[in-house]
Amino acid sequence: MTHPTPAPHGSPAHSQPHGHGPHEIGHGAHGHGAPAHESHGAPAHEHEQDGLAELLDLDAELFAPYIEASMRSIAEAAGDDVKRIVDLGAGSGTGTFALLKQFPSARVTAVDSSAHMLEQLTRTAAAKNLDSRVHALEADAGTSLPGVADADLVWASASMHHMNDPMATLGIVFGALRPGGFLAIAELDGMPRFLADDAVPQRPGLERRCREALTTLHDEEVPHMGADWGALLASAGFTLEEERAESLELRPQPGGSAGLYAHGTLSRIRGALAGRVDPADLEALDTLVNGGPADVRRRDDLVVRSTRELWIARRPTDSGS
Ligand SMILES: C[S@@+](CC[C@H](N)C(=O)[O-])C[C@H]1O[C@@H](n2cnc3c(N)ncnc32)[C@H](O)[C@@H]1O
Repeated sequence: MTHPTPAPHGSPAHSQPHGHGPHEIGHGAHGHGAPAHESHGAPAHEHEQDGLAELLDLDAELFAPYIEASMRSIAEAAGDDVKRIVDLGAGSGTGTFALLKQFPSARVTAVDSSAHMLEQLTRTAAAKNLDSRVHALEADAGTSLPGVADADLVWASASMHHMNDPMATLGIVFGALRPGGFLAIAELDGMPRFLADDAVPQRPGLERRCREALTTLHDEEVPHMGADWGALLASAGFTLEEERAESLELRPQPGGSAGLYAHGTLSRIRGALAGRVDPADLEALDTLVNGGPADVRRRDDLVVRSTRELWIARRPTDSGS
């Protein structure tokens, strides 16, 4: 997942999707994360969440083989007898549905602080005829997981870095797992990349500069992005079973989801970059999303690059009950 505007002023940072990456792009911080044409009709926040959910779904489609491989790694560690699962910061349900597929006799409690995301997830569950196996729980995982106990597995993808106090959340997750239960944390290295350095001849290195500006922003707004989760898991009492990072590079067919994903991503970062990159870069960025000849949805040179990390940890069996 993937992600980049700061949380709206006055709202608890830990309960808002923010940051920088496919999962983090634009929750409309300061009202500038989403393009203006999206902000009519329903309240802006819902549009922002819709836009984010759409990007999460595109990410799920493009990175499906990676997500499935992650699920298989978890099953290898945890075994097949996984019945009670929590998807922490479930978003639109990428993890929830992958988990239900991997563990056919399991039920998933999908936890999110956003009611809008959970509504979307619940609708998708019904459409997939999986509603009897999904329980949606609106909660701030930085505070508590009400009613959640004895879980076999907690999956947290692109959500842990949103927590104000990750150690507090790891403590809450530890308490929600049965002894011997597993926690898998998936994180990514920020906004995915789509373009070669010379893709916009008048502004070589455009995307690289945008990513650098977003990294500065995310250092300010989502300081736990890029944290050493292995060390934090150990400090919280977990036993680390596996840790890995993969640099993924997708070369999709032109005209498909990758163009839409690039378009959604670059459109949503545009507002956050105002004042943070040269105005000429902003102008060049506009040419990539304005429907003109250089628009990313028309290009045949996109390569989606993203580095994804996975930690699989276990609550020790002798850690009480
Ligand atoms: C970047 S999205 C990732 C969604 C999903 N896990 C995925 O990988 O596609 C992060 C999600 O975490 C949720 N979130 C952020 N802070 C949270 C908190 N304190 N408690 C529960 N959910 C939270 C957001 O609402 C958002 O849906």
